[in-house]
Amino acid sequence: MSDIVIISGSPSSISKSERILYYLGDLVKREGFSIKQISVKGVDAKDLLFGNFESPEIKEIARRLELAKGVIVGSPVYKASYSGVLKALFDILPQDVLQDTPVLPVMTGGSPSHLLALEYALKPLLASVKGQSLKGLYFQDSQLDMSTDNPIVDEDMLNRTNKQLKYFLGKIRQEQPVF
Ligand SMILES: Cc1cc2nc3c(=O)[nH]c(=O)nc-3n(C[C@H](O)[C@H](O)[C@H](O)COP(=O)(O)O)c2cc1C
Repeated sequence: MSDIVIISGSPSSISKSERILYYLGDLVKREGFSIKQISVKGVDAKDLLFGNFESPEIKEIARRLELAKGVIVGSPVYKASYSGVLKALFDILPQDVLQDTPVLPVMTGGSPSHLLALEYALKPLLASVKGQSLKGLYFQDSQLDMSTDNPIVDEDMLNRTNKQLKYFLGKIRQEQPVF
């Protein structure tokens, strides 16, 4: 099983939030952690639409999340909240699937006015499945460039990202058993 599971909640084929998640995944791998990337686009749409709790694929995602040392969850802002399809996935995961797990929430949005969607939407969703959310990262589209190796072109956001990631990985390392 992977140390860190990364969940992308964007339905877009070319997704800014997913690009950020891949970038974060690369940084995490460089720090020696194994990762598993999961996208809502890869989940059977029928399971999501009909709320299929018994789906083997959903059970496998739940198992991966339960065993993860840390989880990164990303979503675009859609209508001032997370994407509906991310909610559809969380709706059919067990209610304590992220028990005691450090979680780094990540959102991208077209405007600064929905920065608080992290606080009033995504973090409560993660808390409902007992995740321990860090402060999190909110990127405006204008702070990103999809054509470069590092998509975060805004210097402040890059510093914030490095700090949050360091804190996230520090929490995970603290919780590892010492032999
Ligand atoms: C259906 C839809 C609704 C959106 N609603 C908002 C919104 O309420 N506030 C906002 O700041 N941006 C909004 N946006 C812009 C996206 O959040 C933004 O472009 C984001 O980076 C897209 O991420 P993605 O490429 O990973 O899907 C919306 C975009 C779409 C397609």
